[in-house]
Amino acid sequence: RSVGIIGAPFSRGQSKAGVDQGPNVIRAAGLLHRLEQQGCAVKDYGNLTFEELDHDEPVGRVKRVRAVGSANQRLSKAVQDVKKDGHTAVVLGGDHSLGIGSIHGHAMAVGDLSVVWVDAHADINTPLTTPTGNIHGQSMSYVLRELQSKIPVLPNFSWLKPCVSAKDLVYIGLRDLDPAEHYILKLLGVKAFSMSEVDHLGVTRVMEETCDYLSAKVKKPIHLSYDIDVIDPSVTPATGTPVVGGLTYREGVYITEHLCQTGLLSVVDMVEVNPLRGQTEKDVESTVSTAVDVLLGCFGRRREGNHESDYS
Ligand code: ARG
Ligand code: MN
Ligand code: MN
Ligand code: MN
Repeated sequence: RSVGIIGAPFSRGQSKAGVDQGPNVIRAAGLLHRLEQQGCAVKDYGNLTFEELDHDEPVGRVKRVRAVGSANQRLSKAVQDVKKDGHTAVVLGGDHSLGIGSIHGHAMAVGDLSVVWVDAHADINTPLTTPTGNIHGQSMSYVLRELQSKIPVLPNFSWLKPCVSAKDLVYIGLRDLDPAEHYILKLLGVKAFSMSEVDHLGVTRVMEETCDYLSAKVKKPIHLSYDIDVIDPSVTPATGTPVVGGLTYREGVYITEHLCQTGLLSVVDMVEVNPLRGQTEKDVESTVSTAVDVLLGCFGRRREGNHESDYS
């Protein structure tokens, strides 16, 4: 397996400082070395740089729309380049507004794809329904074909073409939706396993049903967008919008172990790790090491143990 890593130290999709340090703290925890140890060829494409904009007034309720638009255009190009080089791409965020450019770049490179959005939140507010104005709570609405008519023209977003169909999207771990988001999920018939379904079915059946649902017709490349706040804040507290009642460490890792076995993982986002949101050093360490373990699960790490010939 070859992995191409893109650092996206971007924070303007929300309002809290520190999430732009995500890529560096995840690298510092040894991600690259550990991927190599488990037999992956790793290429680090480094961190993207993003322009600072002096004039970025809200458009309606939407905050920092120009900065988010131009950052995601850059990310989209970077993801396309990594896919052209033949790697599975890993995007280290940064906040979840990066899902827009990551999914768009992925779709430009490979065509139709499936999206597995693992998150406490649905991030599917439109510019008109957003209660906060933060684009990290709106990402999916920008890329869904079915919502195209609900998205007004926004500055620095003219490059974006909706590229995902609602039937190709699965949510896992939801537990904090705004009323309009819940309405949109029901209206579009989006497949969603909230924490209630995880409790009812268990994570093993959730993953079986996710894969069965996505591969019912044709097997498309999978885009995994993993927001670290899906895991319980007792394990991953260093994040901007923690919500009680999340996945255990084991459930969080099981999801990526299972998706790895499909052989279809094509781009993985790891977002919302914010080292400034931990109360203690231990909070940050636990959050970052969990993020690393989730990522290792995407690339063949098994908890039963691993040895060289498994990887050749
Ligand atoms: N639903 C809220 C909003 O629209 C919170 C979104 C949190 N998103 C995230 N990527 N952590 O602002
Ligand atoms: Mn999110
Ligand atoms: Mn979230
Ligand atoms: Mn499966």
